[in-house]
Amino acid sequence: MKIWIVKTPVEGANKGVAMIQQTLKDRHEQAVFGLATGGTPQTLYRLLSASQLDFSRCIAINLDEYVGLDQENPQSYAYYMNRYLFSKKPFQQTFIPNGMNRNATVETQRYDQILDRYPIDLQILGLGQNGHIGFNEPGTPFESTTHEVQLTESTIAANARFFAQSTDVPRSAYSMGIKSIMAAKQIVIMAYGKAKAAAVKKLVLGPVTTAVPASILQQHSNVTLIVDEAAADQIKKGKVEN
Ligand code: GLP
Repeated sequence: MKIWIVKTPVEGANKGVAMIQQTLKDRHEQAVFGLATGGTPQTLYRLLSASQLDFSRCIAINLDEYVGLDQENPQSYAYYMNRYLFSKKPFQQTFIPNGMNRNATVETQRYDQILDRYPIDLQILGLGQNGHIGFNEPGTPFESTTHEVQLTESTIAANARFFAQSTDVPRSAYSMGIKSIMAAKQIVIMAYGKAKAAAVKKLVLGPVTTAVPASILQQHSNVTLIVDEAAADQIKKGKVEN
């Protein structure tokens, strides 16, 4: 795993832009990008939106979506992606799980077929405070494909800041599985701020365990972790405390 400790999230986002640019070049402008939501990638999307990069022949596949929120709902991840990126940078095609499809079997199979059809060249990830990636909560099997997730109280609390009140946060989501994330040819994971320091430590130094979904990234051959000083605090000290 390559680790870049940056001074600011803007510096980290600039590194992300450079990696995306390289992927576009390598793939002759026809890349498949796996995209994340949440607070972390917002700066990256702002920089991409302002850039000259051309995604018009690229595919975007998002990690996850809340069950029960439609794309007109400002808290849905579909709305987020349109707002922060797709309205400014058109892609040839974009995919996100359909949170309004209450038939989880149909929806998750549909999404797995999309993932089979478009292997991801570069996956962007954020990191949950409890070590989740996408919405793969602790305990999710590493072999998982797209599935419906019951969100943990810690994730609901962490994401409540985007909602009027915590009771508005949906209790479940559809998420790409860990196996699908690991299938990406390259992964960039970003984490900023001291609230992520413990999860970053387990991601980098902890045992590979389903209790910390992100720890599986230690076994991927092409991962770059971008962190600021605050998020890197506990890895710089070196030792894992259990
Ligand atoms: C959310 C999302 C993840 C995101 C993570 C961190 O629950 N499902 O994809 O990476 O939590 O979010 P943030 O970047 O806002 O800290």
